[in-house]
Amino acid sequence: MTYAAITGWGMYVPEPVLSNADLEKMVDTSDDWIVTRTGIKERHIVAPHETTSTMGSAAAREALERAGVRPEAIDILIVATTTPDQLMPSAACLIQTALGARRAGPVDINAACSGFVYALAIGAQFVRSGASRTVLVVGVDTMSRFLNYEDRNTCILFGDGAGAVVLQATTQPSGVLSIDLGAIPGTGELLEIPGGGAAHPATAETIAQNLHFMTMQGRDVFKYAVRAMGDSSAKVIADAGLVPDEIALVIPHQANLRIIEATAKRLELPMERFYVNIDRYGNTSAASIPIALCEAEAEGRLRPGDSVVLTAFGGGLTWASAVVKWGP
Ligand code: ACO
Repeated sequence: MTYAAITGWGMYVPEPVLSNADLEKMVDTSDDWIVTRTGIKERHIVAPHETTSTMGSAAAREALERAGVRPEAIDILIVATTTPDQLMPSAACLIQTALGARRAGPVDINAACSGFVYALAIGAQFVRSGASRTVLVVGVDTMSRFLNYEDRNTCILFGDGAGAVVLQATTQPSGVLSIDLGAIPGTGELLEIPGGGAAHPATAETIAQNLHFMTMQGRDVFKYAVRAMGDSSAKVIADAGLVPDEIALVIPHQANLRIIEATAKRLELPMERFYVNIDRYGNTSAASIPIALCEAEAEGRLRPGDSVVLTAFGGGLTWASAVVKWGP
């Protein structure tokens, strides 16, 4: 039997910091409101020269170095992003060039904030089926370039960043053990960037109407998120032949501290089993889980043999969860 083990991991966040105090000067909000309602204290925002592909490449280089894998050894390069540098070529093609991963088949997938777990699930199938030996999975988003910094409903929530993992074939029962992917039909309008696609190609009019910015019905998204992350986590735990108490750590998508707390309650697990870093990064969309994974490992919260749940939801509305057995 072949398994898909995570053998390398890396992250990148841009240097510039946007604090709640900075946002107080831009929109009618307060540090107290943002911290109480979301748990976010600051987020990192790209510098003018940075893009989704530059951040993704930086995270990927760190992951490859940690795994001891040369770029030419990558068979498939999957990039989860909703905010590619441009519609064509894909972010994955740009990252392939930046890395020199000349043998890799590069492809973008878009499942918004659930994207990294989708990409991990797809990459794991390539490895487990024997079709590929080495897959690079990148989760990266530059949400700041699609936010209206006059809309307090959205601009306080998001930050920019990237995370990456290397998946390699092994015969040890480890890596991605179970997955659950899905979406709730008819909920697309709750969280969208309507302009710039085939329905509303960019024109002076779509720009004037702000269709190139993200819009969100936060309260509805919140309710769906708690249900989806809770139920999907329970499913992947059962599918891996485990019970919730055997889960050492849950690494949830970092969208809102209250969503994470409600998910913990739904799973009847204490908050100590949930990794949280939303205070420092906000919601980095497809990057949030791999960034959290890197930091959890650096803090010694991932030990070989640990069963770990990754769970996310996002625009679509999509959801995605996986159980990963950490270690060689
Ligand atoms: N500062 C101050 N007041 C605000 C702000 C702000 N930044 N934003 C909204 N308010 C006001 C609202 O206008 C409202 O005022 P009103 O009662 O006078 O109308 C009041 O605060 C309460 O608004 P709610 O929307 O009910 O606030 P809620 O407690 O639901 O928190 C939030 C809003 C933080 C957006 C929450 O609903 C949430 O986190 N939802 C999930 C969003 C999310 O995770 N989105 C990302 C999905 S991932 C992806 O794929 C991109």
